Amino acid sequence: MKESKLLLIPGPTPVDSRILEVLSKPTVSHLSREMERELNGAVENMKKIVRTKDGQPFILAGSGTLAMEIALLNVTAESDRLLILSQGYFSQRMVEIADAFDLKYRLLQSPWGKVVSADELRSEIKKHKYDVVVCTHVDTATGSCAPVERYSEVIKQEAPEALLVVDGVCATGGIEENLDGWGIDVILTAAQKCLGAPPGLAIDIFSRRALDKRKQLSKVKAYYADILRWLPVMENPKKYFSTPAVNEIRAFYEATRLVLEEGLEKRFERHERYASAIRSGLRSLDFSIYTDETCLAPTLSVVGYPEGIEDQSFRQKLDEFGVVVAGGLGLTAGQVFRMGHMGNMTREEIIFAFDALEKTLLALGGEVSLGDGVETVRSLLIK
Ligand SMILES: Cc1ncc(COP(=O)(O)O)c(C=O)c1O
Repeated sequence: MKESKLLLIPGPTPVDSRILEVLSKPTVSHLSREMERELNGAVENMKKIVRTKDGQPFILAGSGTLAMEIALLNVTAESDRLLILSQGYFSQRMVEIADAFDLKYRLLQSPWGKVVSADELRSEIKKHKYDVVVCTHVDTATGSCAPVERYSEVIKQEAPEALLVVDGVCATGGIEENLDGWGIDVILTAAQKCLGAPPGLAIDIFSRRALDKRKQLSKVKAYYADILRWLPVMENPKKYFSTPAVNEIRAFYEATRLVLEEGLEKRFERHERYASAIRSGLRSLDFSIYTDETCLAPTLSVVGYPEGIEDQSFRQKLDEFGVVVAGGLGLTAGQVFRMGHMGNMTREEIIFAFDALEKTLLALGGEVSLGDGVETVRSLLIK
């Protein structure tokens, strides 16, 4: 069956046919040679993608939320204090996880559409002692991209013993993240966004320091999510703890192979170029961009409507023209749509999307001259 709609929600993202082909391969034993090769391959590829030599990836059946839980539970002692930096919706989920497990935290919140600045982080960690700092690289509700490298510099200067946990669910594989170079302790992510695989896997990459911290904790409030139960499997897939998502992992290995085949620098540059072309195209059609200019994420856009265009009917009509985008989350519900431009999205897909956007506006009574947005975006995409 051919999937006819172009999926431009901010994850899951369109899945390349080479990955889908692998997904349809037979299910093999989780202890087979094939699984050993492919899980090892996925682990090694993830190390390259987040630029670590001796960090340890964990790839488990689950979603980004499980990856968040794994990160928090495995580096936080009962007496530890967490600082959660929030630029929107998904750090609120970190707060809920911390509450669910009775972790002690303080929340430093930026206005929606902006980010907590490195200076605000500095003054907070100078005032209070924290053991773990948690941030979201890209908030998928607001489209804002946090200055993670600057955060890590500030933590190194002001509180070098504190661990830095980065939620990379909407960033890893689409935006630079350098675990060793920047001194990040855990990057958590999921298969279905910038890495371009289907949903179903939670991924956490622990630095040696974070792994050592887990080993020092006598107990964590987790069983399946306890990384020490998974460490033997990640080091040697012939070991068993709990049945891994065999077919997903095979497809994920192919997805990571495609990321590295494109090349990280090229891939990050492509995300920047596509984002900037898409935003110019959107502005040329009288849409506005919700997120502050200083912290625009290359992986999605949060888009305000031209005068007179209503959210529900717009997204419904766009869907009829073959393109699916997401509505606003939380504070922005009903006021914006969210369009992902991450992973393995192609130029042709973007042009198709702009054609559909123009037709939608026209059908809803907007003033559009067909082809203008498409031309704007086409000329910028090939630069
Ligand atoms: C930044 C961020 N963190 C966490 C999550 C949660 O991931 P999942 O929906 O896979 O559980 C999302 C989902 O969109 C996200 O964008």
